[in-house]
Amino acid sequence: PRPILLTRHGESRDNVRGRIGGDTVLSEAGELYAKKLANFVEKRLKPERTASIWTSTLQRTILTASPIVGFPKIQWRALDEINAGVCDGMSYEEIKKNMPEEYESRKKDKLRYRYPRGESYLDVIQRLEPVIIELERQRAPVVVISHQAVLRALYAYFADRPLMEIPHIEVPLHTIIEIQMGVTGVQEKRYKLMD
Ligand code: G3H
Repeated sequence: PRPILLTRHGESRDNVRGRIGGDTVLSEAGELYAKKLANFVEKRLKPERTASIWTSTLQRTILTASPIVGFPKIQWRALDEINAGVCDGMSYEEIKKNMPEEYESRKKDKLRYRYPRGESYLDVIQRLEPVIIELERQRAPVVVISHQAVLRALYAYFADRPLMEIPHIEVPLHTIIEIQMGVTGVQEKRYKLMD
């Protein structure tokens, strides 16, 4: 069995300000997480010479991967966060206040709701297909550093969770979800590296 490690990027400046989307750098706490993650990965995967680190194309995941040395890194656009379209850069409060109909329709059907000029969870699930195929094909461990909405979908695939649940799965910051795929099925461990 070989592990797949799933983690969100370290806390970003926009996480601190409560804004969605964007492409900011890490907060101080986020930078600390990047260092802790590097330590963890180097210890956990040291014997696995062929492991690789996959990130999105957004700064916050690339910066989270940057303290990890000795493993190849691959950037996937398909691992980018859900595109919030016209709401990119807004806080949920602002969306609720300025675009109440959008806010309500998303609340009613978060799985199917598509942000104007952006994506729905179903869109994200669809664009993840090539990533999943490649993850299944890999023999070596993979560390996936991505974003909340994307990781909800990836996690649901491996943990076999129903579609309707995906937008509500908890994927906390600063926590590694380790998935082991063995003959007896999928096993999961969580490592919370900091609060
Ligand atoms: O920026 C997007 C969030 O990570 C996704 O969260 O789908 O619960 O709004 P949400």
